[in-house]
Amino acid sequence: MGVEDEAAAAATVQQMFNSIAPRYDLLNHVLSANVDRLWWRRTARRFKAVLADPDAAILDICCGTGDMTMALLQLRPQGARPILAADFAHRMLSRGAEKFARRQTGKCGAIALEADALHLPLRSDSLDLIVTAFGFRNLANYESGLREFHRVLKPGGQLGILDFSEPGGLIGKAYAIYFRRILPAIGRVISGPMTGASEGPYNYLPTSVRKFPAPPALLSLMTAGGYTGCAWQPYTFGIAGLYTAARPLVV
Ligand SMILES: C[S@@+](CC[C@H](N)C(=O)[O-])C[C@H]1O[C@@H](n2cnc3c(N)ncnc32)[C@H](O)[C@@H]1O
Repeated sequence: MGVEDEAAAAATVQQMFNSIAPRYDLLNHVLSANVDRLWWRRTARRFKAVLADPDAAILDICCGTGDMTMALLQLRPQGARPILAADFAHRMLSRGAEKFARRQTGKCGAIALEADALHLPLRSDSLDLIVTAFGFRNLANYESGLREFHRVLKPGGQLGILDFSEPGGLIGKAYAIYFRRILPAIGRVISGPMTGASEGPYNYLPTSVRKFPAPPALLSLMTAGGYTGCAWQPYTFGIAGLYTAARPLVV
């Protein structure tokens, strides 16, 4: 994909998420039968050591309506440095900001930041942890995303990418029917009739998962991008999974 194609792809993704923002949470919970909550919590637990450090600088990129951020916040001590929660879809982010604002005073909070994952307005070598949930797959260029995350992570900083994958075997076959046929139909019923750019999201999800590199391929990209300790932990029969890696301490 050329630079112009990438910009056009990113603009389409941004517009699509802005258009589904009011229904995003409901759709997510119904379509995943609330399993998404377990995945966010499990991802947060994987990073509990860094989350427990009150000074740790943490970014949830592609935070959308903020549910991954909320799961991370559960494991932050009182008075800890706020988590940065960034997304480039204004209407998704403002829903997240409303959730963060409802948090009790005194508890660790989050700062909503409108930003593009491929051009983060953050200093190099500044973050201890970057987490992204169901966002990385949407990036117009995975290598550029990994490069930008590597830039802003401190040496030794950790990366967690939670995203869908396509399970194999019988479960994979049954799931493919749900994911490619039933899920888009339910999505359309919940949202009612939509036209134009909004017509796409329910077909976009299975298509984007099909195009997303399988775990071995993404792990190779991460290793080639200069990360160390790259690993993938499947969640729920491999329907989703968490990629973990770190920026090496010494280059
Ligand atoms: C499927 S939603 C996931 C939201 C949230 N993390 C969750 O787990 O529900 C994907 C999000 O990624 C955001 N996104 C996609 N590409 C992005 C980019 N280049 N920069 C910032 N955000 C991006 C979209 O705007 C959308 O809010």
